[in-house]
Amino acid sequence: MVTMSSGGESKVLVLRLLLVQVLVLAASNGAAGQPAGLRVGFYGQSCPDAESIVRNVTWARVAGDGTLPGKLLRLFFHDCFPQGCDASVLLDGPDTEKAAPPNFSLGGLELVDEVKAALERACPGTVSCADVIALATRDAVSFQFGRLLWEVETGRRDILSSRRDDGMNLPNPEFVFPLLKDVFAVRGLTVADLVALSGAHTLGVTSCQFVSPRLYTFPGNGGVDPLIDAGYARQLKQQCPSTVAQGIVSLDPGSEFRFDTSYYATVKANRGALLTDAALLHDEEAARLVDEFQDLGKFLAAFAASIKKMGAIGVHTGDNGEIRRNCHFKN
Ligand code: HEM
Ligand SMILES: *[C@@H]1O[C@H](CO)[C@@H](O)[C@H](O)[C@H]1NC(C)=O
Ligand SMILES: *[C@@H]1O[C@H](CO)[C@@H](O)[C@H](O)[C@H]1NC(C)=O
Repeated sequence: MVTMSSGGESKVLVLRLLLVQVLVLAASNGAAGQPAGLRVGFYGQSCPDAESIVRNVTWARVAGDGTLPGKLLRLFFHDCFPQGCDASVLLDGPDTEKAAPPNFSLGGLELVDEVKAALERACPGTVSCADVIALATRDAVSFQFGRLLWEVETGRRDILSSRRDDGMNLPNPEFVFPLLKDVFAVRGLTVADLVALSGAHTLGVTSCQFVSPRLYTFPGNGGVDPLIDAGYARQLKQQCPSTVAQGIVSLDPGSEFRFDTSYYATVKANRGALLTDAALLHDEEAARLVDEFQDLGKFLAAFAASIKKMGAIGVHTGDNGEIRRNCHFKN
C-alpha cells in the first residue's frame, strides 16, 4: 500500500492522486453511471455456455477453498479501481499493476486461469478476461447461497497494457472519511455504494500492517476513543503484536468465510479492522447505512446494485481493447 505520510505532504499526495484518477477515468469510456455498452447475456449467441462454464469451474474450486470468494472479490475491486475493469490487474510484467510494491497480496489468479482455459476450449477467443473476473467473482460469492446473488453485465474487453501505479489509485486503508468518499465519487460511486461495497470486508483477512494504528495507540483501554472497543483492541494486539508484524487478522472475525451482514455489526461495535472500516461511523449518512445493512435483504440488494456500478468503471467495449487468449499477456 502507499507509504504512510502525514500532514501537508499527504494532502498534496491525495490531491495529486485525485487529479490522476479524474484524468484516467475521463479518458476511458463508460465511467460508472454512464452507458458503458455492457449488457446481461452478452455471450448468449457467441458462447451460450459461457456463464455456466464459469460457474461450474468456480463452484468446484470454491467448494474446496473457502478463501476464494474473498480473494476474487478483492481481485475484482483491484481490477476496476485503478484504470477500469479491463483485466489490467492480470497482466504480467515488470511495469504492471501486479508488480506494484506490494502487489496487494492478490489471490484467486489460478482460478481465473482455470476458468479462462475452460472457456478457450469451448469458445476460443470469445470471452474476455475482464468478464471472467466479473463472473467468477459473482459465482464465488454466490456459492454459499446455492443461487446467483446478482446479474453480471458482460461485454468488457481486455486492455493491452497496464501501468504500475504503486497502488496510488487504490484507496489507502488510512484514508479519513472525506477522502474515502472522494475516491469513490471520482468513479461515480456514492456514499451508499461505498458502504455497501465495504461490506465485502465481511470476507477475508488483512495483514497486520494495515490494521488501524489507532488500535495501537489506544491509551490503556481507558475509553478515551469512544470509537475503539477496548477489549477488542487488546485482542488484536495479541494477534498483531505490532502494526508491522507479518501476521494476518480477519476483517470480520468469526465470520470471515460467510458473506453476511456481520461486518456491519463489527463496524457498529467499533471493531472495524481498518481505519476505513471504522470511518464509516464518522459520517451521518454512512453510519445510518451501516445500521440499515444489518438487514440481510437490504445488504444483498444494495451490494448487487453497487457492484454492478463498480463493474462498469472505465470499461472498454465494442472494438476497443481485445479478447486476450491468455489472461497474463496481451495477444
Ligand atoms: C473502501 C476502501 C477499501 C480499502 C481501504 C481496502 C483495503 C483493504 C486492505 C488493506 C486489505 C488487506 C490486504 C492485505 O492485507 O493484503 C483488504 C482486503 C480485502 N478487501 Fe478491501 N479495501 C477497500 C474496499 C474494498 C472493496 C470495494 C472490495 C470489494 C468489493 C474489497 C474487498 C476486499 C476483500 C474481500 C479483502 C480480503 C481479501 C482476502 O482475504 O484475500 N475491499 N482491503
Ligand atoms: C454445469 O454443471 C451442471 C450441473 O452439474 C451441468 O448440468 C451442466 O451441464 C454444466 N455446464 C457445463 C457447460 O459444463
Ligand atoms: C507478487 O510478488 C511476489 C514477489 O515479487 C511474487 O512472488 C508473486 O507471484 C506476485 N504475485 C502476483 C499476484 O503477481
